[in-house]
Amino acid sequence: MNANEGEPSLTASVVGASGFTGGELLRLLAGHPDFEIAQATSRSKENKTIGHVHPNLRGLDLRFSSPEDLKSVDVLFAATPHGVSMDHIDAFQDAADTVVDLSADFRLDSEAQYDEWYDGHSRPELLADAEYALPELNRENLADADLIASGGCNATATILGLLPLFEHDVLSGDEQIVVDVKVGSSEGGAGGGEASSHPERSGVVRPYAPTGHRHEAEIEQFLGVDVSFTVHAVEMIRGASATIHAFPEEPVSKGDLWGAYRGSYEDEPFVRMVAGGGGVYRYPEPKAVAGSNYAEVGFELDPGNKRLVVFSAIDNMMKGSAGQAVHAANIALGLEETAGLEFAGMHPVGSP
Ligand SMILES: NC(=O)c1ccc[n+]([C@@H]2O[C@H](COP(=O)([O-])OP(=O)(O)OC[C@H]3O[C@@H](n4cnc5c(N)ncnc54)[C@H](OP(=O)(O)O)[C@@H]3O)[C@@H](O)[C@H]2O)c1
Repeated sequence: MNANEGEPSLTASVVGASGFTGGELLRLLAGHPDFEIAQATSRSKENKTIGHVHPNLRGLDLRFSSPEDLKSVDVLFAATPHGVSMDHIDAFQDAADTVVDLSADFRLDSEAQYDEWYDGHSRPELLADAEYALPELNRENLADADLIASGGCNATATILGLLPLFEHDVLSGDEQIVVDVKVGSSEGGAGGGEASSHPERSGVVRPYAPTGHRHEAEIEQFLGVDVSFTVHAVEMIRGASATIHAFPEEPVSKGDLWGAYRGSYEDEPFVRMVAGGGGVYRYPEPKAVAGSNYAEVGFELDPGNKRLVVFSAIDNMMKGSAGQAVHAANIALGLEETAGLEFAGMHPVGSP
C-alpha cells in the first residue's frame, strides 16, 4: 500500500502527546502524506489545544483528549513513561491493529531481563509478539508487525555505530568495547525533574549513568556482545552522541572500515557517513542532525591501528524515538519508508 497521492488514507493517534516525543510524533504525522491525526491524548492538558503545549504546532486544529477514551485508528503511537504501555496494552490493541510503543516496555525478550534491568513486567506473555524497531538492524521483521517496540535513543546511537563492525567481521565480539554517550536534557522528557532544570543542567558534563544504564541490556541483546557503557548528561537539549572505543584483535585498515560501513549503510536512507573529511564538522555531530531522522556515523584509527574509535550522533527525539517510530510504522504498513521523514536538519543552528 502506498497512499502518497491525494488525501491521507490512514489514521493515527498519539497517546502521551503532551510530552516531548509525543510532540515530535505530532509534528511528523502532521507532515506525513499518509496519516491523518485522529487523536492526541493527555490527562493533564485535556481539552487544551495542541499549540498550547507545542508552540511549533499552533496551526494544528486539534485538542488533547483523554487516554481513557481511545478512538479506533490504523496505528497508535504510545509515547508514555515506562510501565504505562504494558499496563494498557489491551486498550491500545483494541483501538489499533498496529501499536508502536516508544517506551522500553516491549524491547527486551524475556521477563528475566525486565526483572534484572527494570521492575519486572506485567504482561510478559506478550514479549514474544513484539518486534524491536531499529530498521537498519532488522527492517525485515517489521513488515506487518502489529506490536512494535521502538529502539531506545542511546542504544540506537550505539548499535548504529557498532553494527557494521560485526556484520563485516571487523570485530568478533571477544574484544573489549567501551561506549561513552553524551546526551541532551530532552532525554529526560517534559517532566525531566531537578537534574534537567535549566540552572542545574547549564554547563554540565555530568556522569549520569557511569555503569548499569538500562540501554546496555538492549545493546547486548541485539548485538550479542558485552559493552562497557557510560552516559554523560551535557548541556544540549537534543542529541545523543556516542564515542565508542574498540580494540580489534587483528589490525584493521581504513579501507577495511570504509568497506564495512559502506557495506552496511550505503543504501540506508537515514544514515550519513562522516569520517574525517574536510570542513568544521569532520565527524558525527548532534547539531547537524537536530530535528531530523538522520544518524551520522564515522570512525578513526589510532596510529598503529590498534584502537578503533567510532562516533555516532542522532537526535534522541527523532532517530532515537519519534522518527524511528514513524519509520517503523511506514515499514509495518507498507508505506514509502522515508515518508514524512525527509527533513535534513538545519545549519547553522544554536544548541539544539
Ligand atoms: N525523550 C527522549 O529522548 C526519548 C527517547 C527514546 C524513548 N523515549 C521514551 O518515550 C517515552 C516518552 O518519553 P517523553 O520524553 O516524551 O516523556 P514525557 O515528555 O514525560 O511525556 C510523557 C507523556 O505521557 C503522558 N502520560 C504519563 N503517564 C500516563 C499514563 N499513565 N497514561 C497515559 N498517558 C500518560 C504524559 O501526559 P499526561 O500526564 O498529561 O497524560 C505525557 O504526555 C518514554 O517511555 C521514554 O523512555 C524517550
